[in-house]
Amino acid sequence: MRGIRFFALLLLLGVSAWAYHHNPDSPGYEFLPDMARSVPYDAFAPNPVTRDGLTYQLPVAGTIARGAALPFHYAANTQEAERAGRELRNPYPHSREVLARGHAVFVTFCAPCHGPMGAGDGPIIPKFPNPPSYTSTRLLTMADGQMFHTITLGTSIMPSYAVQIAPEDRWKVIHWIRELQSNALQRPMEVARK
Ligand code: HEC
Repeated sequence: MRGIRFFALLLLLGVSAWAYHHNPDSPGYEFLPDMARSVPYDAFAPNPVTRDGLTYQLPVAGTIARGAALPFHYAANTQEAERAGRELRNPYPHSREVLARGHAVFVTFCAPCHGPMGAGDGPIIPKFPNPPSYTSTRLLTMADGQMFHTITLGTSIMPSYAVQIAPEDRWKVIHWIRELQSNALQRPMEVARK
């Protein structure tokens, strides 16, 4: 008797397994289907409400994300560099954290040419032409915005560092250049370099 019952159970399981698997593309019976199908439109699903019929919309032209760096609308020439100097302000304070970050960026990207103290004597010189010292009159009087333009777009033989250095780090490295300048002015460059 027990054997027959067991056999009947096996048969039932087999038949139901076959019944549910005859169509491999069918998702089968959905228990509480609302949980599987969301009410909102999917990002890439057609949408009858929007103008272009797509759910995923591009941001309105000219939109700037909150907290994102402002767009940089300057051409790569001297007049534009000077305009950047007049219009842009360094958004970061001259704080210990900012200087620490600026220093790290400087030793990585600028010191090879400009030298550890900004004297224009980096280890790559003389394979690469000397950059000017940061204590030259031109660089002492150059506005932060023009330096930002220089780092972003390069100038004559100095290459652009826009790809390697994020905008916030460009502003921070300028704080470090100011630090180098004020240190150098208090002491002769030879002393500062040691
Ligand atoms: C590959 C070498 C090299 C590297 C690396 C480099 N510079 Fe320069 N930089 C130069 C040279 C050469 C000049 C002089 C360009 C010229 O002839 O006007 C210069 C000029 C400048 C000027 C003055 C621009 C002007 O209009 O007079 C600034 C500011 C400056 N660099 C900042 C930086 C900063 C900040 C970094 C690091 C992010 C950096 N540079 C990295 C080579 C370099």
